Amino acid sequence: MSEKKNLLIGVTGGIAAYKVCEVASYFTKKGVNVNVVMTEHGAEFVAPLTFEALTKNPCLTSLFDGKSADPVAHVNLGRTADAVLVAPATANVIAKLANGIADDMLTSTVLAASCKKLVAPAMFTGMLENPATQRNIEQLRRDGFEIIEPESGRLACGAVGSGRLAEPAELISAVEEALFGSDELKGKRVLVTAGPTREEIDPVRYITNRSSGKMGYAIAKAAKAMGAEVELVSGKTELLPPYGVSTVFVSSAEDMYNAVMNRAQKADIVVMAAAVADYTPAEKAEQKMKKSDGELSLSLTRTKDILAALGEENNEHRVLVGFSMETENLIENSRKKLHSKNADMIVANSIASENTGFGVDTNAAVLITASGEAETGLMTKDELARLILEKAAVLKK
Ligand code: CTP
Repeated sequence: MSEKKNLLIGVTGGIAAYKVCEVASYFTKKGVNVNVVMTEHGAEFVAPLTFEALTKNPCLTSLFDGKSADPVAHVNLGRTADAVLVAPATANVIAKLANGIADDMLTSTVLAASCKKLVAPAMFTGMLENPATQRNIEQLRRDGFEIIEPESGRLACGAVGSGRLAEPAELISAVEEALFGSDELKGKRVLVTAGPTREEIDPVRYITNRSSGKMGYAIAKAAKAMGAEVELVSGKTELLPPYGVSTVFVSSAEDMYNAVMNRAQKADIVVMAAAVADYTPAEKAEQKMKKSDGELSLSLTRTKDILAALGEENNEHRVLVGFSMETENLIENSRKKLHSKNADMIVANSIASENTGFGVDTNAAVLITASGEAETGLMTKDELARLILEKAAVLKK
């Protein structure tokens, strides 16, 4: 990261305040200068000390408690912020922000900020649906705030309904885009596949592989942050879909083929990061297969190769990126895939090291195109995702 970014987080009085600790910690670890301001009610739910320990910065709750050496901390924190996140945002604070009321540290700081501001509401369904709250949220939208929609689920009061704070992963993606977003892919449509496929043997068993989906999800998230309209076709993973990415879940290689082929027609860039099964059981047993003495052989048939099918379409404008996971002869085998599948780039990654490949957050790859090979070195999957997309964006210009 070149220059240090400043993130201001405003925490108000909601039970979900604890979820925001994860957001503060994530960005501090990433090298962002994180300042947290809280309302007095917010500080009843999570102690300011928690945020101070996580961010290594004072956590201010009052304009006048003398905790900050800066007498106009609200102005300076607001003015220097590159992004503001208010989470959880109560109905009360939303009403104040929508009307320019600045009667405490948090609301004064947010009013002083002119950067991108994100508000993540969290409250009882009835308060959320109240016309006054809806009006205030609409006003915030008109004023340029981005609303991170609350989710439905069990609320602190025991009721089930809309009003749960968005999950930390979603808050993180939204803030990441606000802090590091660019418009390199503005106006482009990017289709990404991720995760493993499942090939069913019978109603209780299936064949799959060790793909976690992390690389594909990182690409979808990066494409969104670079301004693209992104669709993600995902096999079953443990991951939350990236914020703002339209995600469809599939199970088998056949399902993935069907989900991809149509969507790929309008895509400018397709990245096949999914680990698609090459074989599927010739027949799926209707009932659970019972064991019997002796060996069992499964008959497998080839699945359709999605990347190759897209390559055959010979679309002059669409950039096709494939992955290649090898345990030996990485470059040679991957270059063969570039040609046999008519792809524009193959991201070749070895699973030889414990820091690359399945399940981990880092990767190292060789980006293979018709014009040569570029080794990336070890980096986070987020960084590699950006690199792949930057290269893909200029391939057919
Ligand atoms: N792929 C695909 N459809 C398949 C199999 C693979 O679209 N049925 C894509 C993967 O998403 C990846 C690329 O093809 O982008 C290469 O996948 P990989 O498994 O490494 O190679 P294979 O072509 O399956 O060849 P092999 O298993 O022999 O290495």
